[in-house]
Amino acid sequence: KKILVINGPNLNLLGTREPEQYGRDTLADVERLCQEAGAKHGVEIECRQSNHEGVLIDWIHEAGREVAAGHMLGVVMNPGAYTHTSIALHDAIKGASVPLIELHISNVHAREEFRHRSYISPAARGIIVGLGVKGYVLAIAALVP
Ligand code: DQA
Repeated sequence: KKILVINGPNLNLLGTREPEQYGRDTLADVERLCQEAGAKHGVEIECRQSNHEGVLIDWIHEAGREVAAGHMLGVVMNPGAYTHTSIALHDAIKGASVPLIELHISNVHAREEFRHRSYISPAARGIIVGLGVKGYVLAIAALVP
C-alpha cells in the first residue's frame, strides 16, 4: 500500500527559506527522509509538491479514490499557508474521506496570530506541529496500521 506526501505552497523553497523557522533541509532531503521511513514500514511513498490550491485539491480527490480502492493508506500533508485560508481544502479532505495527517515543520502556535487558526485541522485524522522535518517520519508512522 501507498502513502501520498503532499507539500503545499513555498515548500519547494525549503533549505533557503527562513532557515531559523524551517531548518536547512531541502525539499529533496525531506522527500528522501520520507522514502526511508516508507522503506522501514514496507509502504510505498509518493511525494508531490505544488504551489497551486486547485492542484492540491485535485490530488486530495485522487487520493480519496485510491483509498476507496484499497491502494492507499492516507495522505501526509503540509498545506503551508493554505492551512490558514483554505475552506476549499477543508471541504476536499472531508468530501474525499481521506485519512490525512496535517503537518507543520514549525510550531505555528508559537508564531504570528494568523498562523494559530487551521482550516485543515477539523478535517484531519491528526496533527503534527513544530517537530521539524522529523514530523514527516512520525506522520508516515502514524498512518501505518
Ligand atoms: C508551515 C507553517 C505555515 O504557517 C507556513 O505558511 C508554511 C509552512 C510549516 O511547515 O511550519 O508555509 O506549514
